[in-house]
Amino acid sequence: MSKPRIGLLGLGTMGRALALNIAEKAEPLAVYNRTQAKTDDFIAHTRQHTPDLADKLIPADTLEGFVEAMQSPRAIILMVQAGEPVDQQIAALRPLLNDQDLIIDAGNANFHDTNRRAAEAVEAGVPFLGIGVSGGEEGARHGPSIMGGGPKPAWAMVEDTLKAIAADYEGTPCATWMGEAGAGHFVKSVHNGIEYADMQMIAEIYGVFRDGLNWSAEQCGDVFARWNDGPLQSYLIEISGKVADAIDPDSGKPMLDVILDRAGQKGTGRWTVIEAQHLGAPIPVIEAAVTARNVSAKLPLRQRGQDVFGAAPVGLTTDILSVDTLEGAMIAGKIMCYAQGFDLLHAASKTFDWNLPMPEVARVWREGCIIRSSMLNDMATALTDQPDDNLIFAPFFRDLIVKHTPALRHTVATALAHGLPVPALSAALTWFDMTRTARSTANMIQGQRDFFGAHGFERLDNDGKDFHGPWGSVA
Ligand code: 6PG
Repeated sequence: MSKPRIGLLGLGTMGRALALNIAEKAEPLAVYNRTQAKTDDFIAHTRQHTPDLADKLIPADTLEGFVEAMQSPRAIILMVQAGEPVDQQIAALRPLLNDQDLIIDAGNANFHDTNRRAAEAVEAGVPFLGIGVSGGEEGARHGPSIMGGGPKPAWAMVEDTLKAIAADYEGTPCATWMGEAGAGHFVKSVHNGIEYADMQMIAEIYGVFRDGLNWSAEQCGDVFARWNDGPLQSYLIEISGKVADAIDPDSGKPMLDVILDRAGQKGTGRWTVIEAQHLGAPIPVIEAAVTARNVSAKLPLRQRGQDVFGAAPVGLTTDILSVDTLEGAMIAGKIMCYAQGFDLLHAASKTFDWNLPMPEVARVWREGCIIRSSMLNDMATALTDQPDDNLIFAPFFRDLIVKHTPALRHTVATALAHGLPVPALSAALTWFDMTRTARSTANMIQGQRDFFGAHGFERLDNDGKDFHGPWGSVA
């Protein structure tokens, strides 16, 4: 057998899954992990469970042996923890590679790091790609969604392999080059921000069921399962139904009732929010979702708050807030959240000169990734017709917004009146109301700024700039 051209470094859960996917759907590959026991364990496990795939894995016990096991031009996929470990591996690999070879970071990198690594790669003379890979372990093993970034010729080198292992949406592979340098990791970051927001909105609806209507986890699961057959069809609604239905084998209680309500996060959602603020691109639904995770982490504060102020006075009935209304709220909230996410992509594309292929972003998210949903196909169509316009103005989504915003309004108003926190859904509604207010209240902000700082303002009745009010200046 000739030497493979692909290598995968980092055999944690995701690395192993991706290696098996490549072996199965694309080609043989070299594999390596810094701790050799992990490599041995992976090979032994594969030999036992999928021996035909084990034959396509060429294990190495040193970094030099790993590089030696491949033929140039090599493409080495790093599946190591984001941050410092990526830089360490790149530094160790570069002296062993030449300018035909390629290093690919397939982790959840901050796109600023990817930009820096892309610039360093040019200096070092070893090409570099940063690719966002979504879909968790299952996706990595059987078909993830892949968002590529870096030099186009470098992408071309591995495009066929990545398309072969990617998820497939009706014959179209979910793997696309998004642009230079950190473009792929930026798109992945926005994907994760939307992931946070989708999850948070579902959790808020669950909160209305559980705390407002006093429903069991099983009742919640039934509704999510039903919604998954309608306009909300999506991986996250589907798994929410499954999570709600699961029973804890230890206690015999619903799994949801024994899981501590403190959400973890690795930082991608936060990066998205920080970047959106830098770019002046409002994404309040995602911001609310990140904030909600932060509040969830403040468990002692919340417990003390309940002791001091009492729990919310709930006591809803489905006569007051129906399941159909909640479904409508979720539809409207979801569209608004995605509209914000795509708007952020537009802003980044312009600022960083990426020329992001907007409809392709929606297409690549249709399968394999965590936010996959039937609505993304309609978004791809809308963005093909009007790539630069906000999604809420695309006729298909405009009609859905007109139809479902009353449900969102009723849900938010009712939840707030009953003391149920719905931060992401209310952020969606408030953003919508701000977005359809031609005469906002920022004239007051401008007046205040001019009053205390002589910052100047524009006038409605004059095109000039830098007008001042009659409040005079400090003597
Ligand atoms: C994906 C996910 C994945 C992410 C986890 C955990 O697209 O497959 O976004 O990349 O790491 O979902 O993220 P948090 O720990 O931040 O929730």
